[in-house]
Amino acid sequence: MTDFTTLTNPCSGVAFSAGITGVGGYLPEGVVTNQMLASRLDTDHDWITSRTGILERRIADESQSTSDLAVEAGSRALRSAANPEVQALVLATTTPDFRCPATAPYVAARMGLGKIPAFDVSAVCSGFLYATSVAVAYVNSGHFDSVLVIAAEKFSTLIDPNDRNTACLFGDGAGSVVISKVPVGTGGQILAHAIHSDGELESLIKVKGGGSRYPLSPHETVNRPRSDYFLGMQGREVFAAATASMSASVSDIISTAGWELDDLDWLIAHQANRRILNLVCKSLDIPPEKACVHLDEVGNTAGASIPLLLAAKSRQFKPGDKLVLTSFGAGATWGALAMTWPALGTIEAP
Ligand code: UT7
Repeated sequence: MTDFTTLTNPCSGVAFSAGITGVGGYLPEGVVTNQMLASRLDTDHDWITSRTGILERRIADESQSTSDLAVEAGSRALRSAANPEVQALVLATTTPDFRCPATAPYVAARMGLGKIPAFDVSAVCSGFLYATSVAVAYVNSGHFDSVLVIAAEKFSTLIDPNDRNTACLFGDGAGSVVISKVPVGTGGQILAHAIHSDGELESLIKVKGGGSRYPLSPHETVNRPRSDYFLGMQGREVFAAATASMSASVSDIISTAGWELDDLDWLIAHQANRRILNLVCKSLDIPPEKACVHLDEVGNTAGASIPLLLAAKSRQFKPGDKLVLTSFGAGATWGALAMTWPALGTIEAP
């Protein structure tokens, strides 16, 4: 899906398009290092770093839920924006506070955003790109001038702390952007975006229990295998699919935006594995130093990883730099977005 829709101000004749006008990120304080994991699991620092590039991750404490992370990240994004007024909130999360209702209305209320439309989007590691595509459509259609997008994950609640296959990979965090009407050609403009899915790959990453297909049962759940209620991942297959899908998405979005590969200043790819980032760069002949890396400090924060990366590395970007964002995750879902970097107020370190 490509959206070049622009609006024209009838008085000034200036054309407008959706762009990023605010960025924020939040990480919980609790740090879990590889050494801490190795002290209680059959793993070691060398395995984790050589296979993934991850050194440590942040884990929210018991008192913090997804909405707490979301409020922090969303508030920071609004503080970095010249105009903090928004008319809708789209929250991407895999770990809502409750199975019912959605978390976004509660986040909007806590942030004092008034009675604006607020809803959750579920696309796991691609959640941010999916939520952003909704916000871009709202702004490009003229429906709203400004939409707050938050991606927040307390992903540790889906992970079996005793499963070395997943416990070493994931962390908690939240990131947020403000999507607003900006004059065409100015920094921040989203030039192209595309999202995809393939439900045939549903079993690659999955939490089997707790939904309507295999509900929690007060009587039976305790007798079922633990693994039914935690995230299972077929790592090698996901690795291959993520590398191929993100490489193709980046290539496609660059041509849709009317750029050449050499024009790209920064690759903002979902932070799952350093080796995946290297392979995407290699397959497209992108210099690896253009791929921003944050996973060493935070692990895989699922849907939050892209906006967190934007917030964490914002000092590296100059207004007008050309960025491509890309992700792959459970569903399977994937996508990409091409944008230029905006001139923003101070972006607080996550
Ligand atoms: O965010 C959504 C998208 N997610 C991803 O993109 C993740 C994609 N997958 C990956 O990043 C990698 O596949 C992993 C990091 C998950 C695994 O790395 P790998 O190089 O693909 O390892 P593997 O699955 O081929 O496993 C190699 C071995 C296995 O042992 P055997 O079967 O060869 O005896 C695993 O049991 O490593 C074992 N292993 C571990 N060993 C020490 C798995 N986890 C660990 C561990 N410590 N933490």
